[in-house]
Amino acid sequence: MATTRSPLLLLLLLFLLSCSLHIPSVSSWKKDEFRNCKQTPFCHRARSRSPRSCSLVAADVAIHDGDLTAKLVSKNGEPFENPLILKLSVYKGGILRVRVDEDPNLGPPKKRFEVPDVVLGEFESSKLWLSRVSDEGVSSVVYLSSDLEAVVRHDPFEVYVRRKGGERVLSMNSNGLFDFEQLRMKKEGEDWSESFRSHTDSRPYGPQSISFDVSFYGADFVYGIPEHATALALSPTRGPGVEFSEPYRLFNLDVFEYLHDSPFGIYGSIPLMLSHGKGSGTNGFFWLNAAEMQIDVLGKGWDAEDGIALPSSQERIDTHWMSEAGIVDAFFFLGPEPKDVVQQYTSVTGRPSMPQHFATAYHQCRWNYRDEEDVGNVDSKFDEFDIPYDVLWLDIEHTNGKRYFTWDSALFPHPEEMQKKLADKGRHMVTIVDPHIKRDDDYYIHKEATNNGYYVKDSSGKDYDGWCWPGSSSYLDVLNPEIRSWWADKFSLQNYAGSTPSLYIWNDMNEPSVFNGPEVTMPRDALHHGGVEHRELHNAYGYYFHMATADGLLKRGNGNDRPFVLSRAFFPGSQRYGAIWTGDNTAEWEHLRVSVPMVLTLGLTGITFAGADVGGFFGNPDTELLVRWYQLGAYYPFFRAHAHHDTKRREPWLFGDRNTELMRDAIRTRYILLPYFYTLFREANTTGVPVMRPLWMEFPADEATFKNDEAFMVGNSILVQGIYTAGAKHASVYLPGGQSWYDMKTGVAYKGGVTHNLGVSDDSIPAFQKAGTIIPRKDRFRRSSTQMVNDPYTLVIALDGSLEAEGELYVDDGKSFEFGQGAYIHRRFSFTKGQLTSTNIAAPGSGKTFSSNCIIDRIILLGLSSGNKSALVEPGNIKLTIEPGPLNLHARSSSKALTIRRPNVRIADDWTIKIL
Ligand SMILES: *[C@@H]1O[C@H](CO)[C@@H](O)[C@H](O)[C@H]1NC(C)=O
Ligand SMILES: *[C@@H]1O[C@H](CO)[C@@H](O)[C@H](O)[C@H]1NC(C)=O
Repeated sequence: MATTRSPLLLLLLLFLLSCSLHIPSVSSWKKDEFRNCKQTPFCHRARSRSPRSCSLVAADVAIHDGDLTAKLVSKNGEPFENPLILKLSVYKGGILRVRVDEDPNLGPPKKRFEVPDVVLGEFESSKLWLSRVSDEGVSSVVYLSSDLEAVVRHDPFEVYVRRKGGERVLSMNSNGLFDFEQLRMKKEGEDWSESFRSHTDSRPYGPQSISFDVSFYGADFVYGIPEHATALALSPTRGPGVEFSEPYRLFNLDVFEYLHDSPFGIYGSIPLMLSHGKGSGTNGFFWLNAAEMQIDVLGKGWDAEDGIALPSSQERIDTHWMSEAGIVDAFFFLGPEPKDVVQQYTSVTGRPSMPQHFATAYHQCRWNYRDEEDVGNVDSKFDEFDIPYDVLWLDIEHTNGKRYFTWDSALFPHPEEMQKKLADKGRHMVTIVDPHIKRDDDYYIHKEATNNGYYVKDSSGKDYDGWCWPGSSSYLDVLNPEIRSWWADKFSLQNYAGSTPSLYIWNDMNEPSVFNGPEVTMPRDALHHGGVEHRELHNAYGYYFHMATADGLLKRGNGNDRPFVLSRAFFPGSQRYGAIWTGDNTAEWEHLRVSVPMVLTLGLTGITFAGADVGGFFGNPDTELLVRWYQLGAYYPFFRAHAHHDTKRREPWLFGDRNTELMRDAIRTRYILLPYFYTLFREANTTGVPVMRPLWMEFPADEATFKNDEAFMVGNSILVQGIYTAGAKHASVYLPGGQSWYDMKTGVAYKGGVTHNLGVSDDSIPAFQKAGTIIPRKDRFRRSSTQMVNDPYTLVIALDGSLEAEGELYVDDGKSFEFGQGAYIHRRFSFTKGQLTSTNIAAPGSGKTFSSNCIIDRIILLGLSSGNKSALVEPGNIKLTIEPGPLNLHARSSSKALTIRRPNVRIADDWTIKIL
């Protein structure tokens, strides 16, 4: 290059260089590869229906097997060839389930797909046996709970829930948009095929879509239906002056460089919408269906488009749900509190699994850590720079030619030794295992899968062959339990050569991603186990793969080692199998910003163990953005840094001393708070209530919180405000509620119910402890969370106006399932009348116990003036002095903090500490 003298060549070079620099930044999202609603016939048809066009009538209402049943028949005798069967069931806790399907006795050409393995058996068996239906002439009414009843209106057919006083809560088909296309056999000359770009979908049973409207009464906002990169409160997609013109799409897709503000569907789908309003509380509507779904949030006046708006007696938000296939299997969750809805939803689809303790700490990932030497270097640099981390990840390049369960023997000749070196420091490794199998006759997995007929078939019945990382690939038919079980066995230590017990798994590309398939996925007419078409199952494919992987790790550990599996694709129930991340985001401030509503939405829909790639996957973050991302990411329930192959290296020590210090501080913040996080994970495990929560979940009556998705709660005690712009000197932070908030860095108290304009520096993002709470911490610095097991605790007591506070601590062995039989410590700490008390709140034992000699060696009291000089510990009658401080909280003179050093009470015991 240095010898080039020709100015022309130089110009040409400069030109080429500038092109290659600019091309990627000009919206890389390949919009044309994906269908919009107009290009999706079922969506287009459903969207063109006008309100009140449904002519179905509910007839022959009766009680059958404990359900209310009815026939949906067409009033004018058309266009329904066969009546549909409506089934309404009521479950414990007042959950209403509404099913509509074709009548199997009338011989539809095949059974429509009902998603198996999502609804818990435990839930099914909590069905209340209906015995009575009150006939009100125009409608039939059944009892739901002490203050709610479910109503089936006959003509036109409509299902709704109302309060006994008469007010409506939630309804279906109130706008008459219900439509159900029945399966048909092709007649001579009929062609149902659809084309998109170069792909043709044969649609052998004709159009089979279902659509209907759902109304949320008294709602100010609706939320949920991940996964989209959008605000937490969902904007209308139809009606006068709307922001988005496309519906929210639920179709699991591998979208290259997704946009940060779009209703477009990405990797996962959960058709659960929540509503919240100051008057009406919180409700939820869930449609269990795995086909492509499109959902419109209808803006005020949407139905006046044809000139006439219906007067409505109650304020409400209307929505329109459209799905390509499947049946209606819908659940009404009636709150009334935000946490009730999440509990109700997870009582149907399962509570989040309890992660291993190490998995709640910091994860270091990159595509790719090149070889064993690279792994060794990165690992030792963390120690050299005193930065804790727990897990080192290997992406696709660690394999032999993208054949999963193998190692590149040149780059990773000693995988077991490598894992053992990490394990010696209490660290773990994660490798990637994707669902595409390289079509290579010498690859044992491919051989077995081919011989056993374990692949998804194309529409002609041959093994489907698509293009992915390994080149020509086939895809396991994980809908089939036999195939899942076979796959699960591949994870045993014997079968997975080079694996050790400290190795865990990452599932990527499980939408499934097919580079040369329609919309980068599998054709809709591909065939699964039992003749199920891919279109009917698509959104659940990744779920089944995730399930099979988690089952594999469960088998490997003889059922006593909690699996850790990260998945990109998800579906209702994925919370039972592991963690989810928000996929391939970009190193831009806007992506940092949208990560918060994305993770919050996952939490609202059951998936609490979630996070976004810290730093942004694509592109190179500038240093300030990277630091801010660490500071925010330290509060994501799942905290992992990850980066694309083509990005510059960005381990935390590569940006100069000051920035290393800032990133170290951010990561240490997470480690200090691990006892609090783990306690919250257990709360999620038992109730479904997420670790990371929107403000309105904790302050449901405070309207100022309903749209706020810049700040969030971690549990009920910590409020975090992200910083989303470069060079920020101030942040405007709304602190909800009537109590005050203590700045977690300075201890300074701020009033609640007020927006504060706070100065910010580069050293942290604003985070506050709510007055009235107690947070357990572990302040000693170690290399990994595993090495902190025996460390003492600090309690931070933030007193409220009546000098009271309360908090919890949950501890178990961090890895086995014995906590399920009572092997754990669960304490409540409460401070009242000048006395701190620790009480046992563990459920009565069921066989196993867990013990710990850990002590509390420091108690920090926020909000007490320095007049108090001593404390008395009981039992033991031990007198301790109280000191002002800690010093680092004295940065501001107005802070009131006291410290009790070395009370040395055990976390497992009952005790009190009295302030004298
Ligand atoms: C909690 O997590 C465990 C382990 O993942 C799981 O088996 C259990 O079903 C979860 N839920 C409850 C209520 O324990
Ligand atoms: C000591 O603390 C208690 C509350 O625990 C308070 O009521 C009392 O006034 C305090 N005494 C002094 C001297 O500040």
